[in-house]
Amino acid sequence: MATDALFKYIEEQQAERPWDRVLDAGTGDHSLRWVQSLDTTGWTAVTVDATRTQEMLPKWEPLMRSSDQIVLGSWTDPNFLKGEQFDVVLVDYLIGAIDAFAPYFQNQIFARLRPHVKDTLYMIGLEPFPDRPTEPAHQLIVELAKTINACRLLAGERAYREFPASWAEYQLQQSGYVVEKTRHFGTIFRTRYLNSQVQGCFRTIDRLKEPEVARAMRGRVERIRDQLVPFANARQGIRLGSDYVITARLASGTNAQPEASS
Ligand SMILES: C[S@@+](CC[C@H](N)C(=O)[O-])C[C@H]1O[C@@H](n2cnc3c(N)ncnc32)[C@H](O)[C@@H]1O
Repeated sequence: MATDALFKYIEEQQAERPWDRVLDAGTGDHSLRWVQSLDTTGWTAVTVDATRTQEMLPKWEPLMRSSDQIVLGSWTDPNFLKGEQFDVVLVDYLIGAIDAFAPYFQNQIFARLRPHVKDTLYMIGLEPFPDRPTEPAHQLIVELAKTINACRLLAGERAYREFPASWAEYQLQQSGYVVEKTRHFGTIFRTRYLNSQVQGCFRTIDRLKEPEVARAMRGRVERIRDQLVPFANARQGIRLGSDYVITARLASGTNAQPEASS
């Protein structure tokens, strides 16, 4: 499933309600391209990754209005974006990345975002891959994902960790949201996914300190890539698992402004 279909689905959920101010709580070029296409009065795009900011700013600055901003900061900082509220908050593949940047914070993230939500939060996630798939193409995709994480660990970095929709729904409910709807979209992996995963992994391998380990890991990634290419190039791609979109609203009165006393 192309992620654009997920964004299209979110647009359908939003229907006639205005976007006004939008927060992209874990940004990247893909989610920001979509946010930028919406009829907003302003957007804020957050990342904790300084390299990502350096890469994104030169591309995005010429397109930004004074009400748009790309901000470097972490949701673990209680003062980060303090007092700012957004009509729509997008949580696009943020949860899977938290373990890499702010370990053990996953079960606090929705409560941390709550004061910033005026109306609706849309969460996009990826169901974790099965541990032991049976189809050859599925086995290769899972092997690639495990190898990417192994390279990150060898480079002294933390691995990504995806969570199922059932976990996210529970966390949202515990954090003062009402889960309105969850929809799964079957994931189709194609060459573009394969190339981006492999290129990202090569960059991680370049950071490995021991040349013989780097050589072995590179060889392993190349072998998996070569075996995956015919499956990824096939017209039907590789269908494995699903992405999901959760539509959540604040439980009534959660972020109500205190009434002025007379
Ligand atoms: C996998 S990317 C999300 C994909 C992105 N929406 C896109 O379109 O490419 C994860 C994002 O979440 C950010 N992130 C992870 N942990 C964070 C934290 N604790 N505080 C703020 N941002 C965080 C990362 O810096 C990155 O920008």
